[in-house]
Amino acid sequence: MRRHISNKEVVLAVTGSIAAYKACEIASRLIELNAKVTPVLTRSACELVQPATFEAITGRRAITNLFGAFASAEIEHIAVATRAHLFLVAPATANILAKAANGIADDWLSTALLATRAPILFAPAMNSNMFAHPATQANIETLLGRGCHFIEPESGRLACGTVGQGRMADPMSIIEAALPLISGDSSLAGKKVLITSGGTREPLDPVRYIGNRSSGKMGRALAIEALARGAQVTVVTGPSDVALPYGAETIRVETAMQMAAETLPRAQDANIVICAAAVADYRPEQTYEHKRKRAGQSLTLALVENPDILAQIGAAKRTGQILVGFAAETEELVANACVKLKKKNLDLIVANQVGVPESGFGVDTLNAAILDRDGQTTELPLIAKDELAQRLFDRMALLMAQ
Ligand SMILES: Cc1cc2nc3c(=O)[nH]c(=O)nc-3n(C[C@H](O)[C@H](O)[C@H](O)COP(=O)(O)O)c2cc1C
Repeated sequence: MRRHISNKEVVLAVTGSIAAYKACEIASRLIELNAKVTPVLTRSACELVQPATFEAITGRRAITNLFGAFASAEIEHIAVATRAHLFLVAPATANILAKAANGIADDWLSTALLATRAPILFAPAMNSNMFAHPATQANIETLLGRGCHFIEPESGRLACGTVGQGRMADPMSIIEAALPLISGDSSLAGKKVLITSGGTREPLDPVRYIGNRSSGKMGRALAIEALARGAQVTVVTGPSDVALPYGAETIRVETAMQMAAETLPRAQDANIVICAAAVADYRPEQTYEHKRKRAGQSLTLALVENPDILAQIGAAKRTGQILVGFAAETEELVANACVKLKKKNLDLIVANQVGVPESGFGVDTLNAAILDRDGQTTELPLIAKDELAQRLFDRMALLMAQ
């Protein structure tokens, strides 16, 4: 994720909405991702938040005035508009949508929006009546028709006390929507990527289940990377607290049987299938309708085998389809993964070490190795999950080019 937007120029335009304070988090996240952020605040935004906050976060002067700075030879709004890779207007008021739709250029932001050829992403935020008003909706239609991008406001209780659609999408969702626009990478445009993520739970009774320690963090990193490359992404996930990216279709399941039922039909027309979920190999033969009580003696559970999702997809794999598996191992990392790669007809497998503190379930890093069907092994000692996702998609790009 980092590489895609490292050093890319993002104009973060903040307009006069009560949600303006949330733009601080957006700025901060973009900086974490190594983007170069130029903050722009409209006059109304300055009534609600301080330019100094954005200057402290981004390390750049906040632009608040069309006629403010002529210390350098460049005309600022044209120069910034020209070098931008993305204009992110978050929050976007009804007013800026109206001005942009009608080509009005009466302040820095509205003028620069006309001058730029970079993609523009609006994150509207307003009272629900303002959002639903035919004038606002017509302005959005006009801007969509011109190729501008939108991240829809959410429904719920608004700052003005009303309930309805108008609350700005959450900052992380906005970042996720912005990533592919900033990266300009559309290498997977038109391709369907199916990812399984998280761990499954096999119920024993209404209270207990057999589960595993998978957090879903790897699946999330893979989904973000696929979206950043322009793919159409579906994630089938077991129970997980990790937020999946806006833009990916998310299907939530609990058991291995449910994961198989949701994954196998979707795998048929996917271009890339990545099975990163930790699927239980076995489930209790019997599940109890009521909670099992202790009975003063040991209890033996009979387990039956679950369907092998990866093997079934591998057996039905089409020419040109790419299938990637994960092997969580505590020992003989590469040797065990190599057997799994061949047995399940995979194109790539990630052998990852679990059972040590810095690698595997629940943490952001892995000791991993990528193995391919030609017998090549790339060792990746202690790599961040988002970087591993990048490396994996780079390898897939090479396979797709063959
Ligand atoms: C406290 C306060 C909150 C406001 N919140 C919003 C809002 O969420 N969305 C919106 O479209 N307008 C909102 N407005 C009205 C805008 O600030 C007003 O339309 C202004 O002209 C927008 O200017 P700008 O688009 O140049 O920032 C708010 C006004 C006030 C006083």
